Amino acid sequence: MKKVLTYGTFDLLHYGHIELLRRAKELGDYLIVGLSTDEFNEVKGKKSVLDFNKRKQLLESIKYVDLVIPENNWDQKIDDVISHKIDIFVMGDDWINKFDFLKVYCEVKYLPRTDLISSSLLKSIIKK
Ligand code: CTP
Repeated sequence: MKKVLTYGTFDLLHYGHIELLRRAKELGDYLIVGLSTDEFNEVKGKKSVLDFNKRKQLLESIKYVDLVIPENNWDQKIDDVISHKIDIFVMGDDWINKFDFLKVYCEVKYLPRTDLISSSLLKSIIKK
């Protein structure tokens, strides 16, 4: 069984997220999503509209997602890849080359982002 891992905040779940998750799942058989906790978002200077539990609940309702784990800090990726026996690490290409250090442990792929949609854009529309 090929296991795939990706990370993100997935706030206000949108078409770009679903497309990323669909293509990630196509690369293997089992997709794990590392979901940024509210505390970790604070460290990153982000504030999500939906809290961790709501974002997790939404991700768990998607057929491409098999497991959601918390992302608590920048440094857990190597441990996650090893402990979950990950074959492929996937991120959108806004992160290109940023996680190449994982290539020692698994395949690393950056998928093209979907145009015209992001959580930031949705947030700015909601604020208006
Ligand atoms: N993603 C994507 N296409 C988009 C938006 C996001 O492929 N239009 C991907 C990102 O590259 C990442 C994952 O979805 O691999 C989770 O992204 P996240 O940062 O949670 O969502 P964004 O919409 O990019 O949020 P923000 O606007 O806050 O950066």
